[in-house]
Amino acid sequence: MRRSQVDAERFQPEQLLRSHVAALASYTPIHPFEVLSRELNLPVERIVKLDANENPYGPSPAVVEALAEYSYYHIYPDPQQTDLREALSGYIGVDAAQILPTHGADEMLDYLCRIVLDPGDAAINCPPTFGMYSFDAELNGATVIDVPRDDDFGVDVDAVEATADGGRAKLLFLTSPNNPSGNWLPDEQLRRLLALPLLVVLDEAYVEFADHSSRAVWVTGHENLVVVRTFSKAAGIAGLRLGYAACPAWLMPHLWKFKQPYNVNVAATVAGLASLNHIDDMAYVVGKIRAERVRLFALLHTVNYLRPWPSEANFVLCAVRGRNAAQLKADLAAQGVLVRHYNKPGLENCIRVSVGRPDQTDRLMEALRSLE
Ligand SMILES: Cc1ncc(COP(=O)(O)O)c(C=O)c1O
Repeated sequence: MRRSQVDAERFQPEQLLRSHVAALASYTPIHPFEVLSRELNLPVERIVKLDANENPYGPSPAVVEALAEYSYYHIYPDPQQTDLREALSGYIGVDAAQILPTHGADEMLDYLCRIVLDPGDAAINCPPTFGMYSFDAELNGATVIDVPRDDDFGVDVDAVEATADGGRAKLLFLTSPNNPSGNWLPDEQLRRLLALPLLVVLDEAYVEFADHSSRAVWVTGHENLVVVRTFSKAAGIAGLRLGYAACPAWLMPHLWKFKQPYNVNVAATVAGLASLNHIDDMAYVVGKIRAERVRLFALLHTVNYLRPWPSEANFVLCAVRGRNAAQLKADLAAQGVLVRHYNKPGLENCIRVSVGRPDQTDRLMEALRSLE
């Protein structure tokens, strides 16, 4: 049978694209574990993966058991996520009616941009910080206004206030503890920022590791605050993709209209519920990671070419002195130790090391010392 051919002169497929999408820079994917193992010619067990702030202990045995025992994987998930929202309400102290679970915190960040930002609107970003805020805002045709952090990675509140006064910005992204610096956004600063006529998105992906408490409950008193959380870090199920947000009541009907009915899959739901039903297991693992962070920080301090920053999260950012951080990352990778490298404004010649198990810290230290 002859296939009809589209007229090649008249049809230029790329012209179908929305112009801001065509203009976007390409995404650089990370290499999956198995690919790295092949590239480095090392078995997966020999790789010390400290480059993505994952939880080295994974989910608790109770979660693994709940996943193994569940027998309704052939049935669609509950689009209203009733049980999960109830359990989350008990965990974070916010009414279930103001909580929305998502396919990772990343999905919530994208939803918020898509719900609020028209092409031409602006979002305020405070770099150096998590890369998805600017990615999602730009994906939605918005302009990202960067208000750089100070030398200690604090938010420049005066500059954010001055920028917000310009009127074009609708969203403000904040992160506490911040990724990749690990510092906390103090209450007084958050209060000042919440006085701005913007939707403030406070990303608390790492809050369980912090020395301070979550501000999720603040959503009841602040109409312009959304607090985004995740099961990827403390609960150790990054691969299952489960996040959620505590939102002001007025936003919820719009999120319900907007969200994909089955955005959270059944396995993530089962694992999330089991994590919340065994919260002591999660607290135990968080305690181990916090203790290891103290040890890791002290050890990194003893490496003559590193300057670590104190962190309230499950990672430590280090300035690299007198040598090239990209080369250091490559040299560590050659020994099977993976860390994240940065070289951009505010993060010149840096590496970020996730907090692993004690044996992983030992492998990292061995590799760092071999390069002294
Ligand atoms: C600050 C921050 N927010 C959100 C995320 C993504 O969370 P999730 O895995 O739930 O999409 C990350 C992941 O590294 C992060 O660092």
